[in-house]
Amino acid sequence: MIAAEKGAYFDEARSAEIVIDRNADCPDARLAEIVAVVVRHLHAAVKEIDPTQEEWLQAIAFLTRTGHMCNDWRQEFILLSDVLGVSMLVDAIANRKPSGATQSTVLGPFHVADAPLLPNGADICLDGKGEPLLVRGRVTDPDGRPIAGARLDVWQANDEGFYDVQQKGIQPDFNLRGVFETDAEGRYWFRAAKPKFYPIPDDGPVGQLLRRLGRHPYRPAHLHFIVTAEDREALTTHIFVPDDPYIGSDPVFGVKESLIADFVLRDDPARAADLSLRNPFWEVEYDFVLAPARAAAG
Ligand code: BEZ
Ligand code: FE
Repeated sequence: MIAAEKGAYFDEARSAEIVIDRNADCPDARLAEIVAVVVRHLHAAVKEIDPTQEEWLQAIAFLTRTGHMCNDWRQEFILLSDVLGVSMLVDAIANRKPSGATQSTVLGPFHVADAPLLPNGADICLDGKGEPLLVRGRVTDPDGRPIAGARLDVWQANDEGFYDVQQKGIQPDFNLRGVFETDAEGRYWFRAAKPKFYPIPDDGPVGQLLRRLGRHPYRPAHLHFIVTAEDREALTTHIFVPDDPYIGSDPVFGVKESLIADFVLRDDPARAADLSLRNPFWEVEYDFVLAPARAAAG
């Protein structure tokens, strides 16, 4: 019989310590640190919750349903992290920006890597639905110097609240997506549709959890951007429509005050004709400020 090391048997009071000690020979110091922190906080949470066996099994069943909901297009665990505020916390920690740089927010699940590169002025609204929108602005450094050749990868939901990838065969491919490049003065501009609020996918366990918590699934209207340029930190962000009914209760906590843009309704038939937009049209001007690239860790 192999003798147990002193203190190796389970004990309620010292439960986390016993598990952490068992990992003492882990050759990966970072893994050991992460597991120790998770075990410490998880055991503290279980002690505070004081669960019945039945409640613990319900938690396991919830996580099992969450896993079963995942496939190549649906990532229910990311959605869970989103609605618990963890995605935004990780984003805040990993993307601390110097003052003056545009703030980041969640990527979300609907970005596609191969959207077409389009000339400035192009219309990304291929289904013709919704109110016409002109989006324009500049990309600069924190001193206001224009960045030429910066790329803006943009995507948004259509007027019915769905991304093209959620409605393959219904919406045209690459509806409301495109990549634009800034001109010599750092300017970009394109035509789109005024975004509307839409529900995050809520037909799975995360949607059930939201309902049981008395929360709604509606993300306030926004356009997504990934802005990149040479020697600059990549920026993943949104701009939000200010008068949206859900602006103060985003289920994924993605709203930041500095990302709420000014959408102005223009009634200007001559300018609309010039821009090939229906009149009246909405206009939003938003400048993105990119931080310098961080020195590579060495
Ligand atoms: C989105 O804005 O596309 C999104 C973000 C988080 C969860 C679901 C959707
Ligand atoms: Fe979105």
